[in-house]
Amino acid sequence: MADTITPAAAQPSPAAPVFEPTAYHVKEGGEGIALDVEKFNLWYGKSQALFDVEIGFQKGLVTALIGPSGCGKSTLLRCLNRMNDLIDELRIDGRITVDGHDIYAPGVDVIALRKRMGMVFQKPNPFAMSIYDNVVYPMRVDGVSNRGVLDEVCERALRSAALWNEVKDRLKESALGLSGGQQQRLCIARAVASDPEVLLMDEPCSALDPIATAKIEELIAELKGHYSIVIVTHNMQQAARVSDNTAFMYLGRLIEYGDTQTMFINPKKRQSLDYVTGRFG
Ligand SMILES: Nc1ncnc2c1ncn2[C@@H]1O[C@H](COP(=O)(O)OP(=O)(O)O)[C@@H](O)[C@H]1O
Ligand SMILES: [Mg+2]
Repeated sequence: MADTITPAAAQPSPAAPVFEPTAYHVKEGGEGIALDVEKFNLWYGKSQALFDVEIGFQKGLVTALIGPSGCGKSTLLRCLNRMNDLIDELRIDGRITVDGHDIYAPGVDVIALRKRMGMVFQKPNPFAMSIYDNVVYPMRVDGVSNRGVLDEVCERALRSAALWNEVKDRLKESALGLSGGQQQRLCIARAVASDPEVLLMDEPCSALDPIATAKIEELIAELKGHYSIVIVTHNMQQAARVSDNTAFMYLGRLIEYGDTQTMFINPKKRQSLDYVTGRFG
């Protein structure tokens, strides 16, 4: 399996891009690597959940992480912004780099790192406060109190999340009064308010109806380019619709990673073929 997913013996160096994107047979035209995962292993206590994962997420593109339940998709996603830090007995080995900098290096400012990686969860999780306050929450935490600045960020973020027209007249109302789909777009607005480079989405549509799901998928298409997006999904049609590249994981390993069309039409590995054609999972 190593032949197609292991990049050519790259010598990591902080100054240079660590991977050649073409080593993975992924899309042409991505402007380099936003996040680079190298020989990454992870253990929850004694139980190993990730094995030698190697993947470079291309800048400005959408990468889908697919694979059966329990294969490590969420674990990998959470490692990208160090959301796993709070878990007891967690051990990792390997590197994840942003612009050549190891995000697990001693002294890394984790709060600053998370600002570069907006996160959207499975279930919409708006705070019990107004729509406006939800969006500007990250700015307030940062100490921004200038009303003009907050208003501007709020409008920009809500427009980016394709929610502005629906809520502009009720910004002071509770976010909990919004529909599930609107709440999820609000969470996306909150995630983009601090202008991150990467958006991490863990099954963002799994709690939504088909219409709300379609809206989020349209939104993902609009947001890519400006953001690099990593989306976990168990819905293969969704992966095929929204992503440029697809990574198939199985039992904690990255089995195959490549251009989405190739992954769905002509994958190289038998296991990927079986999975995308619905033979298991
Ligand atoms: N906080 C945790 N503590 C212990 N084991 C965990 C934890 N989170 C996930 N796991 C285990 O790690 C494996 C991968 O889980 P996960 O990343 O959630 O998979 P997926 O998102 O692909 O369904 C599973 O065996 C799961 O039980
Ligand atoms: Mg998961």
